Amino acid sequence: MVPRPTTLSVHPGRFRMDRTTRLRITPGAEGAADLLRSYLTPTTGLPLDHADDGSFVLALVPALTGLGEEGYGLTVGSRGVLLRAARPTGLLRGVQTVRQLLPQASAPGRRAVEVDLPGVEITDVPAQRWRGMLLDVARHFQPVSYLYRFVDLLALHKLNVFHLHLTDDQGWRMPVSAYPRLTEIGGRRARSMVGPAGSGCFDDRPHGGAYSREELAGLVAHAAARGVTVVPEIGVPGHVRSALAAHPELGNRPEEPLDVWTQWGVCPNVLGVGDHVLDFFRTVLDEVMDLFPSPYVHIGGDECPTDEWETSPAALARSAREGLAGPRDLHGWFLGRVAEHVVRAGRRPVAWAEDGAALPPECTVMSWRTPRHAWAAARRGHDVVHADHRSTYFDYARGDGVHEPPAQPGHVLDLRAVHGLDLAPPPEEPHLAPRVLGVQGQLWTEFVTTPAHIEYLTYPRLCALAERAWGRTDDWRDFSSRLTGHRARLAALGVPHDTLPDRAAHAPV
Ligand code: ACM
Repeated sequence: MVPRPTTLSVHPGRFRMDRTTRLRITPGAEGAADLLRSYLTPTTGLPLDHADDGSFVLALVPALTGLGEEGYGLTVGSRGVLLRAARPTGLLRGVQTVRQLLPQASAPGRRAVEVDLPGVEITDVPAQRWRGMLLDVARHFQPVSYLYRFVDLLALHKLNVFHLHLTDDQGWRMPVSAYPRLTEIGGRRARSMVGPAGSGCFDDRPHGGAYSREELAGLVAHAAARGVTVVPEIGVPGHVRSALAAHPELGNRPEEPLDVWTQWGVCPNVLGVGDHVLDFFRTVLDEVMDLFPSPYVHIGGDECPTDEWETSPAALARSAREGLAGPRDLHGWFLGRVAEHVVRAGRRPVAWAEDGAALPPECTVMSWRTPRHAWAAARRGHDVVHADHRSTYFDYARGDGVHEPPAQPGHVLDLRAVHGLDLAPPPEEPHLAPRVLGVQGQLWTEFVTTPAHIEYLTYPRLCALAERAWGRTDDWRDFSSRLTGHRARLAALGVPHDTLPDRAAHAPV
């Protein structure tokens, strides 16, 4: 099993599920029962109907202590199964464990008349509260049907956050009814750079796509049914070239038209700092918060060159009027105004850590450049999520073999390095530990166009991340031996965890 349960003992015997097996479901456990059936019935053909004397019990027991929001207990004996949790989300985690206890051949299309669950006693409580995975659908768009599968694979590994990177220089995927040009114009680029930033080569093929509100609402519901929160990211004040292409009035030089960016790297064009820009993004965020119930809303904040502000009379005037030391400080100022709006709506803003910008105190900080940023933020009182690129950026190659497809240059991130990620505060500052919400993997998609390629880069590295985020041990040998069996499960689910099926699989769609 991956991730490894907190405590597990294996008992002799097994529970045989067949056509006569019924589920006993206490009030509040219906969602978990539906999820269990959604996995088991198509793969086994077993109906698993409800019955008051059913031998497979799913019980929500609010009085249970020590399990928190997501913990659960699972007992499998020869006469029955008891899955218990204090909260509905705990039952959903337990369902994923039942799924992993099933024979690996239980993939859709394989019908069985009976299925054995091994006798076990499990108590399982996650170590980290934030166990996330980012998918960048801005650089390369993916249809919502694929996002459903992506989320289900996160749930299999007991991750609880799907960070959806919806906007960037190269594409705007979030529908905003007040500003339809954001997706109409900002959702399509004329061509894409081939190779790393600055390569100067292009594919000369348009690329585009955007979601509808209905599609995103459906995704949110699908994720919620699996105990996964979709955290939307609308990045400001940099990484906004697609918005500037649609609405030049948001920029620092509205008279100079810009296209949706076709290159990779850090774009020099950023938002202007007029009141109309803030009002625009307040409206955008209102629509985002209307669609995504997530308590957290990511507002970006990374890689914002300040060159445009340094020569813009409007930005210099704003900087002076706000009493800032100079236009560079507009970065933190801008994020502060946006964060304020998110807080007023009762949500929590999240932002990427950067050296220069002092993030508003209410921001949760996602630290990506160096763990030093995480600890500096924690010292200032921020909650932090570890997203250090050296251990969590899955757009780096998995290895240095010649067969590896083109990847983000500069680093190779093998499975062991992901498993070795370090979430602990400096030894002399143990008091910072409670500030750590958890850890998150990132898949940026400059070089990734297809679902097969996404999964090849994500698996099995995400398994290692999940192991460290859910569990409390860093025993590599134990993890690798469990991963062998788990790989068979991934294979049965059609996840290309080992090789990318063919070169065509990562050609542009
Ligand atoms: C980032 O990689 N720019 C967060």
